[in-house]
Amino acid sequence: MHLDEKDPEGLQIYLARNGWIADDEPLISLGKPGEGNMNYTLRVRTPNRSLIVKQARGYVEKYPSIAAPTERAIMEGLFYREIAQNPELHRYMPDLLGIDEGENLLVLEDLGDASDFSTCYQPGQAIAADEIKTLITYLSVLHNQFLTDRANPAFANRAMRALNHEHIFIYPFLVDNGVNLDGVQAGLQALAMSYKNPALAEAARQLGQRYLADQPGVPGTLLHGDYYPGSWLRTDSGVKVIDPEFCFYGPAEFDLGVMLAHLHLAQQPEWVHQQVLAGYVRHGGFDEQLLRRFTGIELLRRLIGLAQLPLSLSLDEKSQLLQLATTLVIG
Ligand SMILES: Nc1ncnc2c1ncn2[C@@H]1O[C@H](COP(=O)(O)OP(=O)(O)OP(=O)(O)O)[C@@H](O)[C@H]1O
Ligand SMILES: [Mg+2]
Repeated sequence: MHLDEKDPEGLQIYLARNGWIADDEPLISLGKPGEGNMNYTLRVRTPNRSLIVKQARGYVEKYPSIAAPTERAIMEGLFYREIAQNPELHRYMPDLLGIDEGENLLVLEDLGDASDFSTCYQPGQAIAADEIKTLITYLSVLHNQFLTDRANPAFANRAMRALNHEHIFIYPFLVDNGVNLDGVQAGLQALAMSYKNPALAEAARQLGQRYLADQPGVPGTLLHGDYYPGSWLRTDSGVKVIDPEFCFYGPAEFDLGVMLAHLHLAQQPEWVHQQVLAGYVRHGGFDEQLLRRFTGIELLRRLIGLAQLPLSLSLDEKSQLLQLATTLVIG
């Protein structure tokens, strides 16, 4: 079943055959629920319900020439199933209504016409204190609920980690990675070149090994894996978290570091950072230096890597953030 907005009949039959809608339940509308790059996602309305249907194909939906692991849909579904055991985590995520492993497809509760937090990169778009509180509560509960020194192998998510590893820890530091950053912002390429140095590349390589390693005996936890504003939704019933397709068992410092990096990229005031650092409940072995390093690497890769964001920063502001990132990564 190739999910396709232009084939409502095929989709109606498919959803009914799987018991996700009734046999005689018509589809009233089909449409894109919001911005996404990786997957094909539809909002499906019937007289009785509204569903989100998400299919992972063997490529990145927005850039079909780039291959991507199809099992990401199943990983995302497994995550939803796992966290549903904890009522507090469940409260912050959509219900998983169905998985079709053969078709790499998920059916999710529709959280309503919500926008994600990507607007926070625009000037003056503060994230409210109660929203930060929810985001930090979710992360603390997730990390503490699944803390273990024996990771569940079902969440290895190797192919997605390998893909992310290239984009976070390798590409940004290659002198010639085929991307001309002047296409993003005039002058960015020259600015980026001074950060493609052996010291940062080596620090990134070492952190990348930490990201990839499964270390039996070292405490790790279930990570969301992509904890940034694109995975946070502002809904009528508060902040929700979606899109855990990069989940795996690993260092808690990774999720929190990514979050902090994006608060810097969104130029959030200092009190927001303080609220996060004070509110996040650390496990016993939490490593503050590792947190700083992951924060710095995420800053670097979003500023000079391939996965660019809708930022509104001047070249000078980017330069300051790159300096900060360097200090965080190599001290
Ligand atoms: N359960 C949901 N309820 C309401 N809206 C949703 C839901 N799931 C996704 N959306 C909307 O669809 C958009 C894309 O979904 P999602 O981020 O899961 O797709 P993706 O292809 O994995 O995106 P990305 O490329 O950013 O990883 C979201 O930003 C959101 O606006
Ligand atoms: Mg995604």
